[in-house]
Amino acid sequence: TWTPENIIDDQVARIRAQVGDKEVICGLSGGVDSAVAAALVHKAVGDQLTCVFVDHGLLRAGEAEQVEKDYVAATGIKLKVVDAADRFLGALDGVTDPEDKRKIIGREFIRVFEAAAREVAAAGDVEFLVQGTLYPDVVESGGGTGTANIKSHHNVGGLPDDLQFSLVEPLRTLFKDEVRTLGLQLGLPEAMVWRHPFPGPGLAIRIIGAVSRDRLEVLRAADLIAREELSAAGLDRDVWQFPVVLLADVRSVGVQGDGRTYGHPVVLRPVSSEDAMTADWSRLPYDVVARISTRITNEVPEVNRVVLDVTSKPPGTIEWE
Ligand code: XMP
Repeated sequence: TWTPENIIDDQVARIRAQVGDKEVICGLSGGVDSAVAAALVHKAVGDQLTCVFVDHGLLRAGEAEQVEKDYVAATGIKLKVVDAADRFLGALDGVTDPEDKRKIIGREFIRVFEAAAREVAAAGDVEFLVQGTLYPDVVESGGGTGTANIKSHHNVGGLPDDLQFSLVEPLRTLFKDEVRTLGLQLGLPEAMVWRHPFPGPGLAIRIIGAVSRDRLEVLRAADLIAREELSAAGLDRDVWQFPVVLLADVRSVGVQGDGRTYGHPVVLRPVSSEDAMTADWSRLPYDVVARISTRITNEVPEVNRVVLDVTSKPPGTIEWE
C-alpha cells in the first residue's frame, strides 16, 4: 500500500543497495524534486552524499537562503555552495535574446557544476549522481536510464566523458504530489515543498531586456510582494505559477510621490494549469490584484505601472521569454 513511510523505507533500502560505500553527489536547484531526492539519499547513506548548490544569482528573494539555511537545518545534509552570481551576470551582460540567455546560463551552469563536482570527486570515491527525475519525465523521455547527466530541460549540456556518474533516481516512479507528500514526511521546509515550478534560467527570462544586478533587484522586490499577497490571500495552491515580469526596456510616465516619474512596468502573469503544456490566466480576485499593484508601486520606486496578463496558453506561453 502507498504510504509515505513505505515509500521512504523502500527507497532507502534500494539506495543503500545501489550505492554501497561509494560517495554520491547531487545538485540542488532550490526546487522540490532535487530537495526530496537528496533528502532520501541522505537518509539512506548520510554523509556519503555531498550536495552542490550553484547560486547563479537569478533566484527570487530568499530562495538561496532557503537552500543554504532552512534546508540544511532540516536535513543535516553536507552542502557545498558556489556563489557564481558575478560569473553569470558577467556572461549575460548586454544579452537580450531569450534563447541566447538560456544557452549562456546552461553553459555557465555546467561549467560551474563540473568544477564543483571535480572538487568533491577529488576528495572521495564518487560514483553516483542523484537526479530528481519524476515519473512524467521518464515517460516523456522514453523511459531510458544510464549514465546521463542533468535534465536537458534544465538547459545544461552534458558533463565531460571523464566525469561520468551512475544515476540515482529515487523519484522515478512518483508524481509531483507524491513527491510533495514525501517532502513533508521528511521534514523539509514547507515553502520548498510547495514552491511553484520555476524555470532553470530563473529571473533572467523574466527581465525583458538585458539582465543586470539593479534590474534583478527591482524584479525581486516586485516578485516578493506578489508572492506575499498571494499567500496572504490563501491562494498559493490555486495558481500553477505566478511569474512577475519586468519590462526593463519599456518606460511609461507616471505620477508618484513628489511628481512625474518615467519608470518601468511589471506584468503579473498568474496562470492555472495541470502540466504547463496549456494554461489559462488565473482569475485572481480583484482585491488581491489591487493590493499587489498598490504595494508594488508604493514600495518599488522604479516601477510605476502594474499590468495583468490575460492571455491563455496557447497562444501565449507561460513565461514571456
Ligand atoms: P512556457 O513559457 O513555454 O513554459 O509556457 C512552460 C513551463 O516551462 C518552464 N520553463 C522553463 N523551465 N528552463 C526550465 O527549466 C527553461 O528554459 C524554461 N522555460 C520555461 C515555465 O516556467 C513553465 O513551467
